[in-house]
Amino acid sequence: MVDEALVQQAVAAATEVRRHAYAPYSAFSVGACVVDSQGNVYRGCNVENASYGLTQCAERAAVTAATAAGNRDIVLCVIVTEAAEPTAPCGACRQVLSECNPSMLIVSLTTTGSEKRWTLSQLLPDAFGPSNLGSTR
Ligand code: THU
Repeated sequence: MVDEALVQQAVAAATEVRRHAYAPYSAFSVGACVVDSQGNVYRGCNVENASYGLTQCAERAAVTAATAAGNRDIVLCVIVTEAAEPTAPCGACRQVLSECNPSMLIVSLTTTGSEKRWTLSQLLPDAFGPSNLGSTR
């Protein structure tokens, strides 16, 4: 269970970091935060590129920030967009998030306040992961 106050703290941070999204091509700004088991919040936004394919999603940017801080025991990922309905992470982000914790909570919100929640294993059942390589992590 993730503490609801922590969820709301991450929602505020994801809403804030979304302002830094660099999305001149899609005009679809995304803010994301991941939260570790100690309650540390790491932010990310999408960063697009003129060569399109180099675009980095907000969720993966947040995982990169958490990793750089030495913490990958992620329990929560919050996503904020301006879409009409809350958006789930893309397939690539699901796979990268799953490497941290396949059962984390995903909370997605729109800037108008609609919200959806899933567990990552609902979004990526039967995920390929480190254990499939015989890794001990
Ligand atoms: N995007 C994200 O940042 N996260 C997602 O889960 C979906 C897509 C970004 C990538 C691109 O900059 C823009 O949204 C449109 O696809």
